[in-house]
This record gives sequence, structure tokens and C-alpha cells, in this order.
Amino acid sequence: MNTEKAAYFDSQVDSEWASREYSDDELQRIDRMLRLAQWTPDMRILEPGCGTGRLTEILGDRCGNTGFILAADISEHMTRAARARLGRRRNVKVECEALENLPLVDEEFDLVVCHQVFPHFEDKEKALGILSTVLKPLGKLVLFHFMSSSEINDMHRKTDPSVMADSLPERETMRLMIHAAGFTIDLLEDDERGYLLIATRGRSTE
Ligand SMILES: C[S@@+](CC[C@H](N)C(=O)[O-])C[C@H]1O[C@@H](n2cnc3c(N)ncnc32)[C@H](O)[C@@H]1O
Repeated sequence: MNTEKAAYFDSQVDSEWASREYSDDELQRIDRMLRLAQWTPDMRILEPGCGTGRLTEILGDRCGNTGFILAADISEHMTRAARARLGRRRNVKVECEALENLPLVDEEFDLVVCHQVFPHFEDKEKALGILSTVLKPLGKLVLFHFMSSSEINDMHRKTDPSVMADSLPERETMRLMIHAAGFTIDLLEDDERGYLLIATRGRSTE
């Protein structure tokens, strides 16, 4: 685990970007993302980089008792905030651990949602390899941001040294990386409405 990065995100737990509730517009974008990812309430979902658990809570509420969400974050403070938010929900588990170190089982999940975390993975090929391995065949991978890649990369360059170099790869590099990890890209949007990549493990049925 990158301890400098974890310490930086610890320091951000009460910041506006990490803790305020989603706006109506953001909630609509989350709805759209889940619809396009063909989300269903019975899915087993992995959410690395869950932060304070805002999306986790939405996923947990929508799954009811039929689905399951494993959320994880490298920041102890973020993890604590997420656990406090999520209470005793039986369908959600929150781990304080890097994606790269989680004890995961092959083909365990139907859906992986990386919400505003992909730039922070140190070794993106390795992270994609893990995500491919833990998804069931035809499982869905989502990389989702409220900002475009250029806005994200620009913002990180002006932030803390621990995240300054964290970026979303440019479109063609990302396509190659996703394909090399065994995914078919269903959708890749990158504009003023944000960044949304949805991919299927293996060959898409569409
Ligand atoms: C920009 S925040 C996004 C948090 C949350 N998903 C949201 O949208 O509010 C990125 C989060 O990813 C976590 N993170 C960074 N690298 C990680 C890794 N390798 N595995 C798991 N979590 C990681 C950070 O601690 C931080 O809480």
C-alpha cells in the first residue's frame, strides 16, 4: 500500500469533495451509469476506492438483501467514515485495504465499479488484471468520473505530491490496456459530462 497516498486521503475525509451528498445531477449520472452497466439488484459488486461510502450506500440500498457489495479503500479515515455511513447493512462489507492486496476469489463478482479511483492505481495493468480475474465471464467493469480525463489529470497535477502523477491514460492507451486485460469495451465517453468506460469481461454479447 502507498502510505503517502493513504495519508493524503486520510486528510481529505472531511473535505467537501469527499463528504458532501451527491447533487441531483450526480445522482442522475449514477442512475445512468448503473443502467448502462446493466446493473441488477442481485449482483455481487466490488467497489475499490469507496471513499466515504456515498456510492456504496446507494448500491447497498438498491440491492436490498439480494445482492452484495465489497467496498475497499486504502485510507483508514475514509474506511471509518464509510462504515459509519453504512451501519449494519448485511449486504455490504468495507475493508481497509488496497485493491491489489484484497484476498479475492476468481470469478467472484458480476460488476466492478471504480468510481473516481482508477487514476490512483499505481500499476494500472496489474489492477486491470485483478479486476478481470475476479469478474465472472461477461461481468462488467465500470470506470466512472464526474469530470473528463483532462479535468481530472489537470486537477491532480495541482494537488498533493502523492497524487500529482495520478492520471487517466489517454483514450488509445486505455483501449489497449483494457483489451490486454481481457475486456471488450462497450462504451467510452470522455467529455464535459464526465468519464465513463464500461467493458465486458470476455466477448460482449451485444
Ligand atoms: C478520489 S477518491 C474517490 C472516493 C469515492 N469513490 C468518491 O468518489 O467519493 C479515491 C479513493 O481511492 C482510494 N484509493 C487509492 N488507491 C487505492 C487502491 N489502490 N485501492 C483501494 N483504494 C484506493 C483513496 O484512499 C480514496 O479514498
